[in-house]
Amino acid sequence: MGDSLYRELIMDHSKHPRNKGTLDPHDYSYQDVNPLCGDEIRIDVRVQDDVVSDIKFSGRGCAISQAAASMLTEMVLGQPVAEVKTLAKEDLLEELGVPIGPARMKCALLGLKVLKAGLYGVAPADDSL
Ligand code: FES
Repeated sequence: MGDSLYRELIMDHSKHPRNKGTLDPHDYSYQDVNPLCGDEIRIDVRVQDDVVSDIKFSGRGCAISQAAASMLTEMVLGQPVAEVKTLAKEDLLEELGVPIGPARMKCALLGLKVLKAGLYGVAPADDSL
């Protein structure tokens, strides 16, 4: 896919986010802010047989943060929790498909950070994502 198709995909996810909302009850839930802008994302996860059986995200943020969180939920739905825990930032950045500059990196990775914090019960350091 060329850059423009990836950009369209990001716009589509930011305008029509997949798996947006909250889950009650849930097995895991965490929320955190992007310290650079104060935008916040929450992710709720349900697990069945060690697999992510449902996932929703909520909160607000820029197009990149919302699209990345939306794509992330699609990536991990139906995946074993053990694999989701080892998801690397490179996996998500590859899914986004366009170069993310340093100024937007925290936006792109906020959802992944929140998801891992929920699964591990503690927020990961940025350089350990
Ligand atoms: Fe706030 Fe991107 S500017 S999450």
